[in-house]
Amino acid sequence: MLRSFVRAASAVAIGFAALAGASAAFAEDGYELWLRYRPVEAAWQARYRPEAAALVGPGSGASPQLAAAKAELQRGLDGLLAETVPDAGSGSAVDGAVLFGTPASSPEIARLNLPLTALGSEGYLIRSVTIGGHKATVIAANSDLGVLYGAFRFLRLIQTRRPLEGLDLADAPKVKLRLLNHWDNLDRTIERGYAGFSLWNWQKLPDDLEPRYTDYARADASIGVNGTVLNNVNSSAASLTPLFLRRAAALADAFRPYGVKVYLSPRFSAPIELGGLKTADPLDPQVRAWWKAKADEIYKLIPDFGGFLVKANSEGQPGPQDYHRTHADGANMLAEAVAPHHGLVMYRAFVYAPDAHEDRAKQAYDEFKPLDGKFDDNVIVQVKNGPIDFQPREPFSPLFGAMPKTPLMMEFQITKEYLGFSTHLVYLAPLFEETLKADTYAKGPGSTVAKVIDGELEGHALTGMAGVANTGTDRNWSGSIFDQANWYAFGRLAWDPNASSRAIADDWTRMTFSDDPAFVKPVVDMMMGSREAAVDYMTPLGLHHQMSADGHYGPAPWFKGGPREDWTPVYFNRADAEGIGFDRTAGGSDALAQYTPQAAKDFDASVNDDRFLLWFHHEPWGYRTRSGRTLWDELVVRYSRGVAEVQGMRKTWEGLAPYVDSERYQEVAGYLKIQESEARWWRDASIAYFRSLSKLPLPAGYAPPEHPLSYYEGLRFPFVAGTAH
Ligand code: GCU
Repeated sequence: MLRSFVRAASAVAIGFAALAGASAAFAEDGYELWLRYRPVEAAWQARYRPEAAALVGPGSGASPQLAAAKAELQRGLDGLLAETVPDAGSGSAVDGAVLFGTPASSPEIARLNLPLTALGSEGYLIRSVTIGGHKATVIAANSDLGVLYGAFRFLRLIQTRRPLEGLDLADAPKVKLRLLNHWDNLDRTIERGYAGFSLWNWQKLPDDLEPRYTDYARADASIGVNGTVLNNVNSSAASLTPLFLRRAAALADAFRPYGVKVYLSPRFSAPIELGGLKTADPLDPQVRAWWKAKADEIYKLIPDFGGFLVKANSEGQPGPQDYHRTHADGANMLAEAVAPHHGLVMYRAFVYAPDAHEDRAKQAYDEFKPLDGKFDDNVIVQVKNGPIDFQPREPFSPLFGAMPKTPLMMEFQITKEYLGFSTHLVYLAPLFEETLKADTYAKGPGSTVAKVIDGELEGHALTGMAGVANTGTDRNWSGSIFDQANWYAFGRLAWDPNASSRAIADDWTRMTFSDDPAFVKPVVDMMMGSREAAVDYMTPLGLHHQMSADGHYGPAPWFKGGPREDWTPVYFNRADAEGIGFDRTAGGSDALAQYTPQAAKDFDASVNDDRFLLWFHHEPWGYRTRSGRTLWDELVVRYSRGVAEVQGMRKTWEGLAPYVDSERYQEVAGYLKIQESEARWWRDASIAYFRSLSKLPLPAGYAPPEHPLSYYEGLRFPFVAGTAH
């Protein structure tokens, strides 16, 4: 009911916009993401129409992926050009034809003899051509999926008002596995999810295929995402039961036309829980046989099943170390089971010992580096971007560049567990970009993390990037409109790890809101500054993990106790009457030694800036920072600057009301209001706590915290989103 109402509403909206001009503002709920296809301005319509006057491509009998490409082109062009673009079937080119297909599916494209070889199995070519005297645009690829990607790119050219004349655009992904990791539980709650419940309606699967599954896959394909891990890494063995496998197979069927493969997170102890075995020891022949049979069963249901994503011996999960085996033993056992089916194992390096005896930042490296070269060919080790856990700012993980014989894939977090959930406007691409551009110096200068990830540095063919998804049942998918940009940017960076976060923000803004430069420029500036603002008001100068232990919501720098020392903010800030920060130099935990000397130098506050000061150093409150201010004063200045930045964002947004429909305007305005009050809360609570130790006055002109420390310490937030209750 709701669905059909919304559809009718947007049809009216399109009609209205066509009449009133494309700048007209109308209510939107965000469901269509960046694939809105609203009519371009009249002058652009006039310019584009002759260039996209007919669709020519494989007709009936085309593969599902080519059919999806055609449906998308039809839908996109009809919307953007505000007219029905004729479908010329598989006939020959006419003036203004948009000719799409592969040499195999289209004799016309085969005759063009296009240089497709270098494009591999997913790339595409978009070129202006003349066929039999007719000017046309060809979208060609070696595979049907490549054509689909090309179709989305062609539409993006129009969505972002690029010329369609004289096109010669070839593009191919630089990374092979471009995956979303859903931390979705089988009861539809989502670990660290802030956008409602899981999209996967397990209860109604496999028979009911909600249209939303197709729209999810469309959105993924539009940014090049080609795989999805359906269930939480803290996994339930039930995900491998026949009941759930049949349901997963139905999702795989829904996603297949868009090239999105399904993967699962298995529970390491499943042979005990489901198979009735006494052990899950990876070297036990019965255990190995159980996994092989399970893999065979999965592939019968899902012939193109991607493989497994494994969290083992981490945060209470079972794993090979329970049997005194190594992570390589565990990974290789699963790899052997899926290998006959060309499946893969993504084995996570996010592990740290249950008895926190040494710096948590060092543990993944210490566990995994000795295993370099010990993994089977179809294993890739998945490494979080930083050594701790998706903080607003972390140095890159020292594993990048340190395991040359092992393919490593990147794990970013799109859902904002530590960055204000879905109410803070924080555009994450600058964070992703900062990590990808960081230099490991593993093979001399220029050995960037991006080159480790795209395989260039060590010559690996198996490459990947994963993003912990931020999707849910909220009508706008991601919990907020601006969080859609983080999903979008993840896909674009997985496709090309060297892409620019600003260029991506620019595209997203034009596609999602408006092409008007008076809107685009301030919005992109706001997005680009938003991550640094969050670092300032939450964890400036290299502080990290200062969030409340209960749900990671809000500040709690004073918190100690609980099950583990290394889950507490005091473990990470180490603040006392003398100073603050975690000494990770040779005099401290020496985590710095896990980096090459040149990379370590880049983290040095005196060489670069103060970004990582308190990540690597414990300094006295009176330490002189690069600004010339004392460490204490600089902290206060940064916290306060973060709040001011959010105030500035609110002002910017207020000025943009004329360019946005009221529904999305109000949502963003409301969330910015929350963000401002929470930024102030972060500032005041942090300053109140650290001042209780430093006993220093605030620098002149800086207001004291609104409340005493005890007030902040006393705040409680039961039932925080994204946590198990
Ligand atoms: C974080 C997060 C957990 C998650 C874990 C992981 O610690 O808080 O909810 O399970 O990362 O990545 O496995």
